[in-house]
Amino acid sequence: MALRSALINVMVAAAQKAARHLVRDFGEVENLQVSRKGPADFVSVADQRAENTIVAELQRSRPHYGFLLEERGTVEGRDNSNRWIVDPLDGTTNFLHGIPHFAISIALERDRDLFAGVVYDPIGDRLYWAEKGNGAFLNGRRLRVSSRRKMDEALFATGIPFKGTKNHPLFLRQLEGVMARAAGVRRFGAVSLDLAYVASGRYEGYWETGIHPWDMGAGVVLVREAGGFVTDLDRKTDFLYRGEILAASPDLHDQLAEVLRSAAAP
Ligand code: IPD
Repeated sequence: MALRSALINVMVAAAQKAARHLVRDFGEVENLQVSRKGPADFVSVADQRAENTIVAELQRSRPHYGFLLEERGTVEGRDNSNRWIVDPLDGTTNFLHGIPHFAISIALERDRDLFAGVVYDPIGDRLYWAEKGNGAFLNGRRLRVSSRRKMDEALFATGIPFKGTKNHPLFLRQLEGVMARAAGVRRFGAVSLDLAYVASGRYEGYWETGIHPWDMGAGVVLVREAGGFVTDLDRKTDFLYRGEILAASPDLHDQLAEVLRSAAAP
């Protein structure tokens, strides 16, 4: 069993406290499908409450750190070097539809670098964590990215753009390029878990555009610490605030990037 640092313990405690409410609320969602107001308002209240719980817990242990929050945006802290990046409910659409695939994602950015990450899937009780230089773990077991080397054996994940997001034709070309070469493509609907699955070697790689730092922050630390590469689709490393990501095992990263690049070429 891997020993967790004090920092990771703080993050885990916050995630698990928020998870207790979320799991209870998830149980209610099905009853609400038939109610007059519908579940959307209920879910946004659940999301907000989870965020409040996480903020209160993290603030209690590290009162001067700032925040970047999905629901409330930026909250400045007295400490300029450390900032939490939080998605209290990643996979909101799944949650809303009663699909048990969602997670709480908490990252720590230290001196503008992603330093630690916790992703908690409360339904599967799967707790992923990673800290820079100390490895990535799932429920205490060390994680390594996949060792498959060939594109035609590789399973990839992505996110399908939806109403209100941009450049659907480009995505279709990219998907077509990957479909033609890979063993399979999945779209499960929670960025943090897509990245956790890359870190676990379940997927060889994952790409998505139109996402946010709170979707990916914690998962990026997991993939890096499990031995994977993370960039944007052009292989640049300053991707966090650009809204796109390509995360993969070292052997497949270049191959996936190349397929996506040629799909984008005019
Ligand atoms: C969403 C999920 C989804 C991705 C969306 C994200 P949210 O996060 O991670 O997989 O495709 O772009 O916005 O809104 O549920 O926190």
